[in-house]
Formats: sequence, structure tokens, C-alpha cells
Amino acid sequence: MGARFIGWGIAVPDRIVTNIELSETLPTSDEWIQERTGIRERRIGGTVTDLGAEAGSLALEDAGIEPSDIDFLVLATSAADRITPATAPMIAHKMGLSCPAMDVNAACSGFMYAVRTAQGLLETGNKRILVIGAEHLSRFVDWTDRNMAVLLADGAGAAVLEYDPTENDILSFVLGAEGADAELLTCEHNGFFQMDGAEVFRRAVRVVVDSAEKALSMAGITSDELSLVIPHQANIRIIQAACQRLNVEMDRAVVVIDRYGNTSSASIPLAFADARANDRVHKGDYALLTGFGAGMTWASAVIRWSK
Ligand code: ACO
Repeated sequence: MGARFIGWGIAVPDRIVTNIELSETLPTSDEWIQERTGIRERRIGGTVTDLGAEAGSLALEDAGIEPSDIDFLVLATSAADRITPATAPMIAHKMGLSCPAMDVNAACSGFMYAVRTAQGLLETGNKRILVIGAEHLSRFVDWTDRNMAVLLADGAGAAVLEYDPTENDILSFVLGAEGADAELLTCEHNGFFQMDGAEVFRRAVRVVVDSAEKALSMAGITSDELSLVIPHQANIRIIQAACQRLNVEMDRAVVVIDRYGNTSSASIPLAFADARANDRVHKGDYALLTGFGAGMTWASAVIRWSK
């Protein structure tokens, strides 16, 4: 049995916040942020419901299907609009879906966890699943804390997965979680994101490389055969370090962190959309999708596009 990606959509807030603007109120600089993170600017604003619904509707349009064609909505978010109810039912309502809807929180690995969940839902008789990664992280940023304020941002991306008895886009999947590392990156109720950046950096490179190598091996391919690496966008230096260890030149990596910052579970679909807009996604090509985040959690998958 197979799961195919048949449509994608993204949504970002209109408001652009540049590094220069941040440096007017924080002890930081455009040079430091660009050099240490790769970020030039980010989008700030919206809600998870609004951004998620916009991205989701565009994914349906891209797939050429109607809201009634969706059997299940899985929303990945680490910044749900409320603790309860989950945000997915609100997105479903806004989009005119009449199907089950639930949130998944695996921080920056969230989109990948949601895709894996969707794959399982297809195996149990559902025909089409809408997966959305949507974040309103700026709401949980202490704007006087330069450590987090320069990194986190808002946005959403969505994909429709369809059951297909003959074609399969998802060749392998490796997921992981290590709660012993939970304190490295946290956000308490009514609190703000806090992080041991250097330690997260080190572990991120390790788990991305390890999970990617396993996913490649399970798919029966080598990194030489990858056309694209679509990584979570947390820091350009993490992407560079992971690609170097995987023997993948940077021109095969998709980088959008310069424009969007770290949008957690939205970053992989935002990167995919950029790759497709630049004609970098072709039928039959192999891509590695890989992410990591608070938890710690991580996820890698090898995809071969059938569309
Ligand atoms: N502006 C200017 N200077 C800064 C800033 C800033 N925003 N932040 C730190 N500095 C200074 C430090 O004080 C330090 O100064 P010193 O040398 O005088 O002591 C110097 O810059 C270097 O600081 P480091 O913390 O060592 O900087 P580093 O190169 O490690 O970069 C960063 C920090 C960007 C946070 C990096 O560690 C990182 O990207 N970590 C991983 C983040 C991540 O992947 N998060 C994951 C998921 S997010 C989620 O799940 C929602």
C-alpha cells in the first residue's frame, strides 16, 4: 500500500521583521544573526488557526480536491492557540472540513510526526489525510531575550496525503524521542521558550545524521542518490554540519531560514514549497526530509516523488 503527496500549501504572516529591526531593541546585530544562524528576516503574526487554515486550503486547491474529500486532519503545532480545545478542530471548521481533527505536538519534528501518523491513518482505511504544520511561536517569545527572539517565527505549511494501491512516495521513516533531554528546550504554561542553544545544536546534528543514515539504509539508497535534502530550518550551521557529515553538498539542501527563521513544524513544508517553486522537485527523485526539536524528538524520511 502507498501514501502519495498530492498537494501542498503554505501561509506566512505579512509582517516582516528584519534583523536590523530586532537590533534596535535587543543587544544583537544583523551581522551576528546572519553569521551565527543564517536568518535575515522572519514573519511574525497571525494565529495557528488562521495560518493553518490558509495553508490547508491552498493544499486542497493544489491537489484539486474539495474539503469533503478529506477524511482526517492532523495538525502539528507546538504553539496551539489554546490548551484546550485542540486547534485542529478550529482549523477544520474554518476550512469547511467535516472529519476527525487532532493536534500532534512533537515540537520541530512535528510535521514529520504528523506525516507518519497520516501514513498509519491511510493504512486503516482513510483515503485522504490533510497534514498541517502551523506555528505562532512569537506569542511565546520573550522579546527582551535575544537568545530566542532572533530565532523563532510564525508560519504554516500543509500537505495532502492520498492512499494509492500502486504508488508509494514514502520509502522509509525513522522517528525518535529522548525525554532525558527535555530540559534543553522548554516553554512552560504562560511562559516563554528557553533553550540551551549550544547543547541543542550539538545533539541536533547527531540525531539528524544518525536518523538520516538509518532512513537512507532502510530505503536502500545512499546519500549520493539524493536530489534534495529538505531539513528543519533551525540554524544554517546545523544544516551545513549535518550535510557535511552525510556527504551532501549544500546545493542539494533546501534553505529558507534566511527568509522565515525557525518556524518549527512549519519549516519543512515551507522549504518544500520553496524547492517546488524553484523547479527543484521532479518525479522519480529521492529527497530526505529530516527534523529535530524539543523533547528531544527527531524524524527522518526518504521520499520518492511520484507526482
Ligand atoms: N546576538 C548577539 N550575540 C549573541 C546572541 C545574539 N542573539 N546570542 C548569543 N550571543 C553571544 C553570546 O553571549 C556569546 O558571547 P561571548 O562569546 O561574549 O560569551 C556569543 O554570542 C556566542 O554565543 P553562543 O551561544 O556560543 O552562540 P552559538 O554560536 O552557539 O549560537 C544559537 C547560538 C544560534 C542559539 C545556536 O546555538 C543554535 O542555533 N542552537 C540550536 C537552536 C535550535 O536548533 N533550536 C531547535 C529547535 S527550536 C524549537 O523547538 C521551537
